[in-house]
Amino acid sequence: MINIPKGTKDVLPSQSFKWQYVEETARKVAKIYNLKEIRTPVFEHTELFQRGVGETTDVVNKEMYTFFDKGGRSVTLKPEGTAGAARLFIENGLASSPMPLKAFYLTPCFRYERPQAGRLREFHQFGIEVFGSKEPETDAEVISAANMLLNELGVNGCQLQINSIGCPVCRAEYNKALKEYFRPQLKNMCATCNARFEQNPLRILDCKEEECKKITANAPKILDYLCPDCKDHFKKVQSLLKAQGVKYLINPNIVRGLDYYTRTVFEFVSTEIGAQGTVCGGGRYDNLISELGGAPTPAVGFAAGLERLLMVMENTGATIPEEQKPRVYLAGMDEKSRNKAVELAANLRANGINAEVDLMARSVKAQFKYADKIGAEFVAAIGETELESGAVNLKNMTNGESSAVKFKELCTYLKHN
Ligand code: HAM
Repeated sequence: MINIPKGTKDVLPSQSFKWQYVEETARKVAKIYNLKEIRTPVFEHTELFQRGVGETTDVVNKEMYTFFDKGGRSVTLKPEGTAGAARLFIENGLASSPMPLKAFYLTPCFRYERPQAGRLREFHQFGIEVFGSKEPETDAEVISAANMLLNELGVNGCQLQINSIGCPVCRAEYNKALKEYFRPQLKNMCATCNARFEQNPLRILDCKEEECKKITANAPKILDYLCPDCKDHFKKVQSLLKAQGVKYLINPNIVRGLDYYTRTVFEFVSTEIGAQGTVCGGGRYDNLISELGGAPTPAVGFAAGLERLLMVMENTGATIPEEQKPRVYLAGMDEKSRNKAVELAANLRANGINAEVDLMARSVKAQFKYADKIGAEFVAAIGETELESGAVNLKNMTNGESSAVKFKELCTYLKHN
């Protein structure tokens, strides 16, 4: 027996309706916000993520599924959706389409992390990316779309936390302050933080080591170093969130785990699913497109993990509508009537009605038992009498009532009952 790889999950037939519900709701929200679907390959050239996500991030340093294909090219399974979306934008010349370009995706992602509740090696994201606008209205719209997704799904108790990590101008000042603060403490910090000190001190704030976290707690806060433009942008994002009734908390410690962010960053955090409580994260990334070789194009987006959304929904008792059960099961008693059942079911299906017949050569009694197990709403047996009269006795399994319905009226009857 070959088992499923560690950190991955099957979706079973009895559970897939939950996934479909989350995906359909995400698509519905995307439609309301006029976002158009994009699909990018599951693997890309490794360099895209190295340059896009950033060499100093855990994602690129430790977590990528990277391998050489048979042609000797280094490729990587996408650890997230933004870098691929940015590549698609540049490569297909979408900068010449009307701006902003509003896109969404549903995609599997792969990160070689230590699996635990809410942390998988293959997981799924619903993400949106809006290209072409530097205006705070866009940040607020993207955040409100995430907020709507959570509301629509009935995800309870998630808190929106926002921060601004500034632009390269204010970041340079902030990095200086961080270096001054961390320099005397470096000997007490982990090797990764020591390396990050030189490459990208902001990343130190993302360290999960207990000792480093203690030191980081009193580090200077980026909000005190924002330049006037970034300060103003952040203020406007906040007033636009207020205008839409979106509640938030400013958390100056959010820096996000990916290098491309500028200005607004945000996370929706749940306390209901353990240590991996961030169900949704995103922010603005005004320099990514140009860093990947495109014309300078500001952008903002987010991604929500579908597994984490489902976990919060299940842990907080959100209602997930079940799939429709078969409307009717047509049991056949002998060969002739079984043929009739197949013919009638084909006609019902052609009219969009979910109908079932026996595929297991079962006795009529066993067929009825099966119909009950699968929750068919109506059941009818077809035998000699029914073939002669051209009608069935259709039993409503919910209230036990039976009605005689002519073969040719079955479809109309089921459509109206
Ligand atoms: P991220 O915060 O790395 O951001 O991931 C977004 C979401 O994906 C997380 O909040 C979480 O729900 C889910 N997630 C991440 N890693 C795992 C994992 N190992 N197992 C299960 N779920 C996970 C991004 O990926 C950015 N691309 C978001 C973005 C889009 N920013 C701008 N546009």
